[in-house]
Amino acid sequence: MSIDAIKTVAVLGAGTMGNGIAHVFARSGYNVILRDVEERCLDRAMETIGKNLDREVKKGKLPEAEKPAVLARFKPVTNLAAIAEADFVVEAVPEKLDIKRAVLGEADKLLRPEVILASNTSSISMTALAALTQRPDRFVGMHFMNPVPVMVLVEVIRALQTSNATFDVTMELAKKLGKTPVAVNDSPGFVSNRVLMPLINEAAYCVMEGVATAEAVDAVMKLGMNHPMGPLQLADFIGLDVCVDILHVLHEGLGDPKYRACPLLRNYVAAGWLGRKTNRGFYDYAKPA
Ligand SMILES: NC(=O)c1ccc[n+]([C@@H]2O[C@H](COP(=O)([O-])OP(=O)(O)OC[C@H]3O[C@@H](n4cnc5c(N)ncnc54)[C@H](O)[C@@H]3O)[C@@H](O)[C@H]2O)c1
Repeated sequence: MSIDAIKTVAVLGAGTMGNGIAHVFARSGYNVILRDVEERCLDRAMETIGKNLDREVKKGKLPEAEKPAVLARFKPVTNLAAIAEADFVVEAVPEKLDIKRAVLGEADKLLRPEVILASNTSSISMTALAALTQRPDRFVGMHFMNPVPVMVLVEVIRALQTSNATFDVTMELAKKLGKTPVAVNDSPGFVSNRVLMPLINEAAYCVMEGVATAEAVDAVMKLGMNHPMGPLQLADFIGLDVCVDILHVLHEGLGDPKYRACPLLRNYVAAGWLGRKTNRGFYDYAKPA
């Protein structure tokens, strides 16, 4: 499929990442079939997209008059068969292999043979996902960052089977979305999480060993290294459970003990302190500021 033939994109999963991915495609002029399993998930996603478009209007990034045209490009659906007309597909369903297997298997059967299937997985092997389909050479990783409308990076991940043509079209497509694609080969955690998670883990060890408080660790990284956010504040945003899961993937996939999840992180997860989403992680968000 040539880049110019791509007019309609299907996004599978309308959660945190799916609605952001759908947003940037529609903003860039693509028709978007947004698929989730329940109407209420689609309603919530369209509400979020509406709010995020308003924010862009307020910031002067989107002319107000263009908002209705962007919204008109969406086709929210629960029926998977509706994706058959898509020219490119991005999968953003939950990070569970069973769910990915089912969705990719069904989508693969519905799509025209030339259509590229991309996955936004953070930690599952792209090579293993490609092998679940009948189009492994037309399978690729498109790893967007959260929040998608704001973050410029897309890691474009080449599975072992990904053809050069698939890879090139995907890099080009990411540029058309106003993103900066970076080429990465398939390996546990890709580059983003392989570099970020050990930083977060080491920051957690500093707190556990009493080297410094969470606030102090974050202050050192913000003021000394010019990070916009400290690693522990970022971990709270990502979710400490998600961090531990990704560290497990790195540990298992690369076999190096340096990726072992810090016991303090695992303890917080055991306590249900998962970060922002539970109001408590390294920081207490229920406490009045
Ligand atoms: N959250 C992040 O910061 C982040 C960053 C990069 C990549 N990712 C990856 O993106 C993917 C999605 O993550 P998320 O955070 O958006 O999850 P999420 O739980 O917010 O959203 C997943 C959505 O998929 C829907 N869904 C479930 N089964 C489905 C199916 N069969 N068909 C269509 N939709 C289905 C759910 O109803 C939900 O709305 C995961 O692979 C994750 O690893 C997440």
